[in-house]
Amino acid sequence: MNWLLKQVHTNLAVSRTANADLFDKVGVLLLHKGQPITEGIRDLLENREVFIWERKEDENRSSNVVKAFPKDVYVKLVGSLWSIYHEAKLISQEQIEHTINLVETIIKQLRPINVYLNLNLVRLDVEQFKHHDYGTFAHSLNVAILATLTARRLRYSEKKLRHLTLGALLHDLGKLNIPKEVLNKPGTLTAKELLLMKQHPQFGADMLKNSRVLPSVLETVVKHHERWNGTGYPCGYKKDDIHLDAQIVAVTDVFEALTADRPYRKGLPPYYALEMIIAGAGKGYNPTVVKAFRESLILYPENAVVTLNTGEIGVVAAVPVQMPTRPLIRLLRDNKGRFLNKAQYVDLMQDLTRFIGRVEFNLPM
Ligand SMILES: [Fe+2]
Repeated sequence: MNWLLKQVHTNLAVSRTANADLFDKVGVLLLHKGQPITEGIRDLLENREVFIWERKEDENRSSNVVKAFPKDVYVKLVGSLWSIYHEAKLISQEQIEHTINLVETIIKQLRPINVYLNLNLVRLDVEQFKHHDYGTFAHSLNVAILATLTARRLRYSEKKLRHLTLGALLHDLGKLNIPKEVLNKPGTLTAKELLLMKQHPQFGADMLKNSRVLPSVLETVVKHHERWNGTGYPCGYKKDDIHLDAQIVAVTDVFEALTADRPYRKGLPPYYALEMIIAGAGKGYNPTVVKAFRESLILYPENAVVTLNTGEIGVVAAVPVQMPTRPLIRLLRDNKGRFLNKAQYVDLMQDLTRFIGRVEFNLPM
């Protein structure tokens, strides 16, 4: 998307206020939105060409085009996962086959590599999410989407990719056997509850014993809480003793969990969660996986409108590959909401006092 000046034919009535920021043809601000229209201003504006800024899709861009994961497909996928698994005990081969159809849908949606997934918008927006306990399934879908994007960056073959996506969708299956009071407990878990919670990878594997999933899928389920440096659970495996699929899911699982709102706490901003993951490279996480995850994750799509912690509003002008949490921002409005006359840039790599508070206008989902 680009911002373009579009000519408007103003019909200005004295005593009213301007309903948009008005500019001349080179983009110099003539009148602020909300400013009263006096006789003098009306006479001045009536004799000149007046423009407003408008966002326009740029149809010529192709390789850098970012596609948003479609909201309707996302909602259907979560609904399907819920209906396949919400009362599951022992998983049948038929349930796995239904899930493989969902895997195909996910992979098809992720074919253009640049896919932006807004993790929280769907959870907050969609009515069904409030009526059903969709939380675990939305988590699994988010983890699977992010893991698939990471694995593609690691040049997984199509066949291996399908097994990874399936494992990621099933990774927390064992949590269906944990009481909701423990899963959503606001405070610290007791030693007994923690022990139970740490059994969910094994519970998941037990639930899959009647189905014919590949060993790699089982490894993802059993080992997604193992850590690169051996500090994970249930067995404390290290490095190559953990299947690469499980190493990928470990990273996307933690990122998703950190950014998700829980009944007892608000999710962390995605940039902060990503910086935590980057800090864990070579410690809890395989550095190669972290690099691929960082490169595949689109936190701030180019041209997204963002609000900074200072209250300033700007457009993402460029995203550094090495540090995608700190893009270059072209400021549009100052911290009082006034349109800026001259192009001003903030490089978040240099200016560490500013950061992105929220993405103001997300790409259409
Ligand atoms: Fe888990």
